[in-house]
Amino acid sequence: MSTLTIENLTKEYGDVTAVSDVSFEIEDEFVVLLGESGAGKSTLLRCINGLTDPTDGDVYLDGKPVSGSQPSIGMIFQQHNLVEGVSAYLNSLTGSLERTSFVDSLFQWNDRADKRKALEALQTVGLLDEAHQRVSQMSGGQQQRVGIARALVQDPSLVLADEPVASLDPSSAESVMGYLKKAARAHQVTALVSLHQVNIAAHFGERFIGLRDGWLLFDVEQDELTPDLIDDLYGDVETVGLTEQHAADPASERPEARVGR
Ligand SMILES: Nc1ncnc2c1ncn2[C@@H]1O[C@H](COP(=O)(O)OP(=O)(O)OP(=O)(O)O)[C@@H](O)[C@H]1O
Ligand SMILES: [Mg+2]
Repeated sequence: MSTLTIENLTKEYGDVTAVSDVSFEIEDEFVVLLGESGAGKSTLLRCINGLTDPTDGDVYLDGKPVSGSQPSIGMIFQQHNLVEGVSAYLNSLTGSLERTSFVDSLFQWNDRADKRKALEALQTVGLLDEAHQRVSQMSGGQQQRVGIARALVQDPSLVLADEPVASLDPSSAESVMGYLKKAARAHQVTALVSLHQVNIAAHFGERFIGLRDGWLLFDVEQDELTPDLIDDLYGDVETVGLTEQHAADPASERPEARVGR
C-alpha cells in the first residue's frame, strides 16, 4: 500500500492548460478519475508516473518525489502494450522487466520467483488455465486482464490505469474492472483509474475525483457521488437523447454521449 500526494500540479502545453493546480492525496484506496474528453485525465496520470514533466507542482509517492518512470508504479492502458504473438504467461513475465526489450527480457529471467509471480498474477485475473494461450487468440477483455497481470508482476505499490475498459463492451468492462479491483486488493496496491463510463465508475469506485477543463471539480467518497455532480462534470445528462442527431453530424463533439454508457 502506498500514499500518493499531488501538490498544486499544473501542466501546460503551449497555450493549453491541461491540468490546473490540482492537489489531492490518496492512500490505500481504489480511486476513480472522472472527466469528459479533454478534461486532463491522461495528462494527470502521465505526470504522476513521470512520463510527462509537470509545468508546476509536485508528485510524491510515500513522501518521496516521483521522477522518471519508476517500477513502483504500474501502468495499465486502454490499448494494452502486449506482444500479441506470444502467450499470456510470457507477456506477464516480461512485466517484471518493463524497461528492457521483450527479446532481451526473454533471455534475462532465470528467476523462479518471477515465474511464480507471473503465474500468481494470471491466477488473480482468472487466467491461469489460459496462461499458455497466445494473446492474439484472446478476447479484448482477456487481453486487458493479461495487461493487469503484467502490471502486477512489477510489484507496484501504486497502479495507474488510463481508461482500461474503454474499448470493451459493457459486460466485459464490468468483468475486467472486477478483476482490477480484486487484484488491487489482493496485491495491496493503491489504484487511480480513469473511466468515462459513470455507471461502471459508480459500481467500483471507493472515491471519485472529477476533473473539468483541467481543474479539480470534486473529490468525494463513494456515497457522495450525486447526479448533480455528474451533471456538473458532463453537462446535463438529458442531452443524451440528442446523440442520434449528433451522430448524423460527425463533425460535432459528443461529450454527453459518454454519460451512462
Ligand atoms: N502532447 C500534447 N500536446 C498538446 N496538447 C495536449 C497534449 N496532450 C494533451 N493535450 C491537451 O491537453 C488537454 C487534456 O488532454 P488529456 O488527453 O489529458 O484529456 P483526457 O481527459 O485524457 O481526454 P480523453 O477522455 O479524450 O482521453 C486537451 O486539451 C488536449 O488537447
Ligand atoms: Mg485520456
